[in-house]
Amino acid sequence: MFNGKVIIGALMVVAAMVIVYSCTHQPYVMPESQRTNDPNICFERDVLPIFISNCAKSGCHDAASHESGYVLDNYAHIMRKGIVPGNSAASKIWLSITLSNTEGGKMPQRSAALNGVQLDVIKRWIVTGAVDSGACSANCDSNNITYSGGIAPMMQLYCVGCHNSASASGGSLNDYNSVMTAAVTGRLIGDVADSAGYNHMPKGGLTLSQCQVTQIRKWVAAGAPNN
Ligand code: HEC
Repeated sequence: MFNGKVIIGALMVVAAMVIVYSCTHQPYVMPESQRTNDPNICFERDVLPIFISNCAKSGCHDAASHESGYVLDNYAHIMRKGIVPGNSAASKIWLSITLSNTEGGKMPQRSAALNGVQLDVIKRWIVTGAVDSGACSANCDSNNITYSGGIAPMMQLYCVGCHNSASASGGSLNDYNSVMTAAVTGRLIGDVADSAGYNHMPKGGLTLSQCQVTQIRKWVAAGAPNN
């Protein structure tokens, strides 16, 4: 039969196990010198836009809303709360975006999960050391621009996290007709080129590169074709 001594003894054993476990299982943090900086991933160009478009939204993790204390709008803020360099399994942000649909705490809440390409970019960035590589090579050719090869992927990376349906603030940019409508009314280029009287887009801290703005400008000038 259980008596008081047995229960106290059992509690002490459990407490000792908890202490040992927490001392020996500190999350691994990749030392500065081992961070490799995957040459194919550039934080500012490839990773930050995913956070801005899907997380740093009004009502979620922009500076004004800072839901649960998380502001996910720049490198320092993202690192401070949820990324362990070199260790995705210990990175709270990684865990929250890879939970299954049915689990509580899954991010982003109230909108579509990040797609496989976006998750792959974030994972490779974390495991190679979650470096902020600063300015990135352009990776952008403003001479040959098509909707499917240039404009649509740009909208997916920078815009669709917020502009995912007709009912979203500012409308959808998630399909050709919506993007074309924004193009022919002048709003698309006015917003991304920061023209007077327009709202800066992408909202929340990023500016498209000069080359990307030129790509949009040329595509609009060509009549915004569905090519
Ligand atoms: C973080 C969320 C967010 C991101 C990312 C974002 N937008 Fe917006 N967008 C908004 C909101 C909110 C509005 C409504 C107007 C406002 O609040 O400024 C809007 C409005 C617009 C409009 C309607 C005209 C206007 O200025 O009101 C256009 C066009 C637009 N955005 C284009 C873009 C493009 C192109 C991108 C990507 C390069 C983008 N947006 C990225 C939130 C976002």
